[in-house]
Amino acid sequence: MQQATRIAPSILSADFATLGAEVAAITEAGADMVHVDVMDGHFVPNITIGPAIVKALRPHSALPFDVHLMIAPVDPFVVAFAEAGADIISFHPEAGAHPHRTVQLIKSLGKKAGIVLNPHTPVEMIDYLIDDLDLILVMSVNPGFGGQSFIDSQLRKIETLRKRIDASGKPIDLEVDGGITLATAPRAVAAGADLLVAGTATFTGGPSAYADNIRRLKAA
Ligand code: DX5
Ligand code: ZN
Repeated sequence: MQQATRIAPSILSADFATLGAEVAAITEAGADMVHVDVMDGHFVPNITIGPAIVKALRPHSALPFDVHLMIAPVDPFVVAFAEAGADIISFHPEAGAHPHRTVQLIKSLGKKAGIVLNPHTPVEMIDYLIDDLDLILVMSVNPGFGGQSFIDSQLRKIETLRKRIDASGKPIDLEVDGGITLATAPRAVAAGADLLVAGTATFTGGPSAYADNIRRLKAA
């Protein structure tokens, strides 16, 4: 069942020079999770955050850390992110040869497992994974950068996944990532999403604006 809309600010749009304070500020401002975009310059054309940064940020918030891995391979780094304090670990099935094994690895560490579907990736990718998933993340931009425009075709994918999740009867979060604004948030939620990643939309205006930005996204 679709839950009330929750917001996961992507710290990719935060001030990297004061990342601990930024994580504390979004926590104070009403964020529901902290979305951590991990990029390797190989699976996606950008390099961001590694496990050492996740570990350093962990004491700055009691919120769940939603770690989005955009790296290949995935498996050799899962333990490091789990030990660093990730609560949810999501990965792209294209990043490794054995996504089922990767899901089992994440679950074996007591963490929640998520699959991320790129804009071109069909819904059927999850057919034989859904029984073990805690989260499905629909990319509404091509991964690699914040501040891109929402790709409308992904709304159909969200609608299909909402039906699949409800039919499964399992409490799987349906998350959308990329180009979330006050205009696109209500469309994603109407299609069935219940967890919205928001980088630009959260961090625009600096710390004094975060609470208002998050509140307006939830209300949109
Ligand atoms: C893109 C990342 C997103 C992105 C979202 O690869 O996964 O989390 O930073 O940024 P906005 O909300 O600015 O589109
Ligand atoms: Zn992300």
